[in-house]
Amino acid sequence: MKLRRPRSRRQWAAAAAGGLLLLGAAFWFVAPYNIAASLPHLPGVSALLHGYLVNAVRTWSLGEAPPRDIDLDDPALVALGAGHFESGCAPCHGAPGRARNPLVGGMRPEPPSLDGIGGKFADRELYWIARHGFKYTGMPAWPTQERPDEPWALAAFLRRYGSLDAEAYRRLAYGPAEPRRALDEGASISFGGLTGRLEEPLDNCARCHGADGLGRDGVAPKLAGQSEAYLAASLEGYAGGARPSGFMEPLAAELTAGERRRLAAHFAALPRFAATGSEADAELLATGARLAGEGDPRRDIPSCLACHGPEAEPPRRALYPHIAGQDARWLERWLRLWRDKPLGATRFANVMHEAARFLTDAEIEALAAFFAAGAPEDAARR
Ligand code: HEC
Ligand code: HEC
Ligand code: HEC
Repeated sequence: MKLRRPRSRRQWAAAAAGGLLLLGAAFWFVAPYNIAASLPHLPGVSALLHGYLVNAVRTWSLGEAPPRDIDLDDPALVALGAGHFESGCAPCHGAPGRARNPLVGGMRPEPPSLDGIGGKFADRELYWIARHGFKYTGMPAWPTQERPDEPWALAAFLRRYGSLDAEAYRRLAYGPAEPRRALDEGASISFGGLTGRLEEPLDNCARCHGADGLGRDGVAPKLAGQSEAYLAASLEGYAGGARPSGFMEPLAAELTAGERRRLAAHFAALPRFAATGSEADAELLATGARLAGEGDPRRDIPSCLACHGPEAEPPRRALYPHIAGQDARWLERWLRLWRDKPLGATRFANVMHEAARFLTDAEIEALAAFFAAGAPEDAARR
């Protein structure tokens, strides 16, 4: 083949493009830039890459805002964020008053300390980072993209990160429960550290659900006295991914099937949760009561009590969860999610989607208030 000298401007451009492509291919093949994580980047490269990251977070998080039922100042949401941070993020980033694991110091880029993070990124940016993670860095995305509601808890926690000392952080992530492996002894929950004897996973559950299974004031749903079959099915669903939740999937997947069954039996045997007093206004409760009892046949909304009321108690319908007295925030959250699509773990998951499909926001709020207030199941038992 004979190479001719380019004549026209177009030919020059084509030759230049071809040359660049060849150079690029040679660079790719020979790989002269050393990717060894043991070496620092060449001067300037880190700053260039990190600058791009910051700009990308700004651009791609535009328009993100918490949904109506999520309040970033809710102490329960902050504590849930801290609870997840402890097992999902602290192994790489460390935590307030605690250095990160030396193992990750060998990562390029290294997972940075998040001390000043609230001042560096806006709330929507923190949410975006927790939900999507970063390519080519080791910073993972949220375990499921089917729960865009969940990473807001991390934003609620991270914006306060700088103001927390070790003790304040411990109280958020563990509540009053004393972890058996004390944090100040340098131990922390690690990716693989959750299996083993029943007591250890149970300590871990208590961080968010409380040792009494009552959910630490809304940090996590109440489990105490819930139908055992339902708890077991939910844990299986989380472990296998059939029930999406970035909080619960990693925890449930680390347990053995036997541990999941024993934990379900443990929480089902605790004294059942009930309402803790309600400040909801009477009109809202009345609307909720009417809808829960009669539904709205013209709009294809069934009676909730037909399935969740006292007559539908286990064992007859063991897979129908007990909801009277559950925390209002969780009832509302689930109803909103179920309105969009089936969310559950059992063979009845679709049933709940059918029940919630046509609910308005106001109706969801009323139903959540009504069931959180505990009626009528608690009344029937008194
Ligand atoms: C496997 C290790 C790893 C885990 C687990 C991890 N991260 Fe990261 N994270 C990284 C690395 C590495 C970076 C640095 C990216 C960069 O700067 O290029 C990073 C960056 C970040 C940043 C941006 C920091 C900055 O100053 O630019 C935030 C915020 C963050 N992570 C939050 C979290 C949260 C929240 C979690 C848990 C849900 C988490 N990370 C879990 C490795 C991890
Ligand atoms: C980091 C906090 C956290 C920890 C630790 C935790 N959970 Fe959860 N759990 C949650 C959250 C948040 C939800 C709600 C998830 C959803 O929306 O599906 C949940 C939901 C559940 C549910 C479903 C409840 C229902 O009524 O639908 C079960 C069952 C459960 N958890 C059991 C456990 C067990 C057992 C452990 C210990 C191995 C545990 N959890 C540890 C936060 C936590
Ligand atoms: C035909 C029976 C049926 C009807 C009617 C029904 N539900 Fe359900 N509901 C279920 C089942 C079954 C589940 C669990 C589904 C799964 O996890 O697979 C569930 C789950 C729920 C949950 C989640 C509980 C938890 O602990 O995770 C809430 C909240 C709920 N229903 C509220 C309602 C409300 C409010 C209504 C009325 C609008 C209603 N349900 C009508 C059967 C029903």
